[in-house]
Amino acid sequence: MKKIGIAVTDPDDWTGVSLCNSVEYYGMTAVKFSFNEATSDISSGKIYSGNIDLTALDAVIVRDLGPATHNDVSFRFDILCQLKELGVAVINSPESIAKAANKYVSSFLFRKNGIPTPKTIVTNNLDEAIAALSSFGRAVVKPVFGYKGIGVECVRDSESGVVKLKELFKDNRLIYMQEFIPNPGRDIRVFVVNGKVAGSIYRIAPEGGWINNLSQGGSAKPCVLTGEQERLALKAAAVIGTVYAGVDIIEGDYVIEINGTPSGKGIFEACGVDVTRMIAEYLERLI
Ligand SMILES: Nc1ncnc2c1ncn2[C@@H]1O[C@H](COP(=O)(O)OP(=O)(O)O)[C@@H](O)[C@H]1O
Ligand SMILES: [Mg+2]
Repeated sequence: MKKIGIAVTDPDDWTGVSLCNSVEYYGMTAVKFSFNEATSDISSGKIYSGNIDLTALDAVIVRDLGPATHNDVSFRFDILCQLKELGVAVINSPESIAKAANKYVSSFLFRKNGIPTPKTIVTNNLDEAIAALSSFGRAVVKPVFGYKGIGVECVRDSESGVVKLKELFKDNRLIYMQEFIPNPGRDIRVFVVNGKVAGSIYRIAPEGGWINNLSQGGSAKPCVLTGEQERLALKAAAVIGTVYAGVDIIEGDYVIEINGTPSGKGIFEACGVDVTRMIAEYLERLI
C-alpha cells in the first residue's frame, strides 16, 4: 500500500484530518507528521520526524510547514526539496510553496503573466514607500511572508499614516505595500485543484473590519464565480505551479494573493465541498 505523509502541525486541524481520511478513502495509508520534529542525520542520510522515516514515503502532502524562524524555514523547504530528489512525490511542490509564500515573488509573477493585481511597491527605501503612499492615497502594507491576515495594516496618506509607515519600516527595513482596492466588505477565496475550480466562497469581514480572512473573524458564504474570476484563479495557480491552491480575489477583478498551503475548512462548511477528496484523487493517479 502506498504510504502518504501528511505534514501538519496541529493533529486536530480540519484539513489535516480530512486529508488523512481522503487518502485512506483512495486506498492509501496516511501518516501525519510535523516539521516541528524534523531531523536530518547527515551521517546516515536519514530524514525523519518522530518515528517516521520521511525518505520511505511514497508522497508527502504539505498541509503546513509549521511556525518557523528565518533559519528554520529554509531547513524545512530544503527537506522537501531533498525528499523530492529522492523520489518522494511532494505536493504542493516545494518550488510552488516557496513562490506562493513569498508575496513579492507572486505579485511579480502575476504582473508578468498579465494577471490583474493591485499596484504594488516593494522597497528597501523609505522615501520610495512614502512617495508610493501619496500616490495610492489608501494603502495596505503586508509582511512579505505573511499569512492569515496577520500583520496586514491599512495606511493612509496623512501625517499619522506616514508615522505608521515609518514604524512598519523600522521593524524589518522592507516595505511591501499595495493600493487599497475598494470592495463591498468581502473578497473571494477560490480553491483550485489540478487545474479545476473545486469550490469558492465569499469571505465577509466582521462588522467594522476590512480584513476578510476567516481566521480574523470573517464569515464564509457560497460564491458563484464569473467566468473571468474562474479564469484568473486557474491562471494564478498555473503560473505559481501549485497542484492545489487558495486564490484570493477582490471583485473588479484583482488577484490579491495565492496560498500554497490553504485550509479546506471554510469551503466545506459553507458549500459542503471536501477539497481534500480531489487532492487525494489527484495523488492516487499520480503515484
Ligand atoms: N490591496 C488590498 N485592498 C483591499 N483589501 C486587501 C488588499 N490586500 C489585502 N486585503 C485584505 O486583507 C486580507 C489579507 O490579505 P492577503 O494578501 O490575502 O494576506 P494573507 O496572506 O495574510 O491572507 C485579504 O483577504 C483582504 O481582505
Ligand atoms: Mg489571503
